[in-house]
Amino acid sequence: MNELMKKAEACLHEQDIVATLRELSEAFKERVAFSTSLSLEDQIITHFIFSHDLPIRVFTLDTGRLFPQTYETLERTRKKYGKTIEVYFPPQEEVERMVNEKGMFSFYESVENRKECCFIRKVLPLNRALKGVACWITGIRAEHSPLRSNMRLIEWDESRQMVKYQPLLHWTTPQVEAFVKEHNIPYNPLFDQGFLSIGCQPCTRAVAPGEDIRAGRWWWEQSHKECGLHAR
Ligand code: ADX
Ligand code: SF4
Repeated sequence: MNELMKKAEACLHEQDIVATLRELSEAFKERVAFSTSLSLEDQIITHFIFSHDLPIRVFTLDTGRLFPQTYETLERTRKKYGKTIEVYFPPQEEVERMVNEKGMFSFYESVENRKECCFIRKVLPLNRALKGVACWITGIRAEHSPLRSNMRLIEWDESRQMVKYQPLLHWTTPQVEAFVKEHNIPYNPLFDQGFLSIGCQPCTRAVAPGEDIRAGRWWWEQSHKECGLHAR
């Protein structure tokens, strides 16, 4: 096991997320960061970090195509905790080139175009946000997809050469919902309208009861419910 993994594993308290986050912040200092999409699970992690005053950078990627309700959730969260959520934007020249060449909805036309858009609007700003980071915290849960179900709480991200920690990996959807309600955590109102997984507005739809959590993401595509943020 490499040194970064050893250092991270030593911080892990399986039943105590706050203690784990605190120890990671002490071990990695400014090299630990949490990426939030303002989802229900991400809001819980933000709550842990902000309400315990943990020195962990929290950032979000504004693709430019998010729902108004997502921006409102961001603002309500900033106000409630009085803390900074860093916002990263895609590179202006790349977005302009893509849109001027292919139009505003190129992602519906082919998987290739969709991946190009996700790369420009999400992966490039993520790369910038993660510069210098050694431990990346995410809100991934095993229930999201078969691919995510075999992840570990702390694992090595080979492509990024950093540690990845997903504190809520084994939480169930009812557990997540109950925690948000119980602790009065601000959340995206779209969730109550059947949007169980929320990404960009043109690429997300509500799901019917019983449908897969991520069925509403890139719903027109048969496979690939991933955007490249979490390459494995
Ligand atoms: S995605 O790959 O399909 O877009 P998903 O929405 O499931 O990801 O979120 C999984 C994790 O990826 C989140 O918990 C968060 O850590 C990160 N993430 C996804 N979208 C964003 C975003 N717009 N800004 C910051 N982090 C994000
Ligand atoms: Fe572009 Fe859709 Fe990916 Fe958002 S989810 S970056 S709009 S293709």
